Order: sequence, then structure tokens, then C-alpha cells
Amino acid sequence: MPSIVDGLRGSGRGIGAFNAILLEHAEAIVAGAEDARLPVILQISQNAVLYHGSLAPFAAACLSLAAHASVPVVVHLDHAEDEALIDQAVALGIRSVMFDAAALPYADNVARTRAVVERCHAAGCWVEAELGEIGGKDGAHAPGVRTDPAEAAAFVAATGVDALAVAVGSSHAMNTRDAVLDDELIGRLAAAVPVPLVLHGSSGVPEDGLRRAVREGITKVNVGTLLNRVLTGKVRETLAERTELTDPRKYLSPGRDAVRTAVAQTLRLLAPAPSPVAGH
Ligand code: G3H
Ligand code: ZN
Repeated sequence: MPSIVDGLRGSGRGIGAFNAILLEHAEAIVAGAEDARLPVILQISQNAVLYHGSLAPFAAACLSLAAHASVPVVVHLDHAEDEALIDQAVALGIRSVMFDAAALPYADNVARTRAVVERCHAAGCWVEAELGEIGGKDGAHAPGVRTDPAEAAAFVAATGVDALAVAVGSSHAMNTRDAVLDDELIGRLAAAVPVPLVLHGSSGVPEDGLRRAVREGITKVNVGTLLNRVLTGKVRETLAERTELTDPRKYLSPGRDAVRTAVAQTLRLLAPAPSPVAGH
């Protein structure tokens, strides 16, 4: 089950994985990737599924957008703690999932992740897991937590996961971009772990921090809150300027355009062109 993520490991380049809640997010994520002429991961989180009340309608829309895109788009189920939801995603045609058992004790995380990996691999589905809780999610995790490289390598060997989300200083749902990543730890994790590394909570990381993280060995960069800041900011501005508006298309389309621009910018930042060789 090779993913567009796999070939980037060790290249110093990364790929953006953006969370969609509304159809407008999903449209903007695909359009932004097409603008940048770069592949993208379109993520639906378990929390977004809870918001909609079910996975199937939104998954169908995202899979259709992906199928008709002019660049590779992978639809991914993000932060799934519910194993039944993973089975449902696979049945709907989603071929990339994150099983998030990071809040469990290590031995339980290993056992449950390994079982999910076996089922998903049998269906041709790629699996990301998490080790070392990434701060901020639901306010429940401590931002100081870090993933240990030796434990990460052992976890990947024991579970067979295709990618590993690591805790290296970022925190979910930040509204400021001042998180400081542990670049040295990213380098050690990349050297120790034989699968692509995933950064969560990337909205709180400044652009330079993201560039360095990718250079040091992060491959998949998960971005959610940043898109919501951009979308809501633009919608708020539009509604403040035009108080007579009632048609949601009139205020959501500027918001969607702003998200499209942010996606294209982020993708370009994560996938810098290789430096020209001296003398050429
Ligand atoms: O899995 C999704 C990401 O970790 C998003 O985090 O909303 O802080 O960018 P963020
Ligand atoms: Zn996350």
C-alpha cells in the first residue's frame, strides 16, 4: 500500500496534509494543490465525522474531488480512535488512515495498532499511528511530551505501521505560530525510524520551523487550525463589510479562495525545489 508520502522519506521535502471540515475546505485544498502543482493529502478527522453525524456523505465528496483532481490527492481518515470507523472508511474506499491510540499505555497502543494494521494492510490501506502524545488535542495532553527514538523504532517494528506521528514540540489547535520544535530530536527520530515521520499541530509552527522540520526528516505535515483561521477571518471580514449578505455563497467563496491560497503557499514551502547544482 505505497502512499505518495513514502517516496519523500529522506528527500528533505515534505507533503501537506490538510483537515477538511466543510466541503469548502475540501474544494480549497484540492484547488490549492492544483495551483501549486503538488500532491496533497485531504484529511477527514474523527471529530469532523462527529460534526457531520456520519462519514459516508463527506467521504464520498472528498473521494470524488480527489478522483477528478489534476494532481495526486489522497483522502485520509485522521485521528481515528474508533476502530469501527476505520473499518467503515476502508469499506467506503479510503486507503489511508491514522489510528490514534496514543493515549493508551504503550503495550495496549502496540497491541491495538498491530491489529488495525493487519486488517488495513489486508485491504490495501496505509496506516499512520502516534507515539508520545502530541500536546493540545482536546486539552488533554501535555505539550512537554516527546517521542523517544528507540521506543519509536521498536513501536514501528512491533506494529508494522506505515508512518509515525511524533511529539517534537508542536501542539494541536494553536492560534499563534510560535511553537519551537526540537530539530535535533527530529533528526534522531528520522535516523532511527524506518518509515515517514508525521508532524501534527503544524498550525502553531512558524514557516521557518516547518522548513527546518522537513529538512531534518518530517515528511507529512498536518495542518488544520491554520485553514480555519484563514477561512473564518475572511468570512468575518466579508460579513463586516457587507452586512446585507445572507447568501452563504457570497461570504464563503472569499473564505474558500483564501484557504486555497494558504494551501498552495504551504505546499510550496514544504516541497522546496532542489538547490541548483553549482556550475550548472
Ligand atoms: O491531525 C491534524 C493536525 O494535527 C492539525 O493540527 O489544527 O494544530 O494544525 P492543527
Ligand atoms: Zn493531529
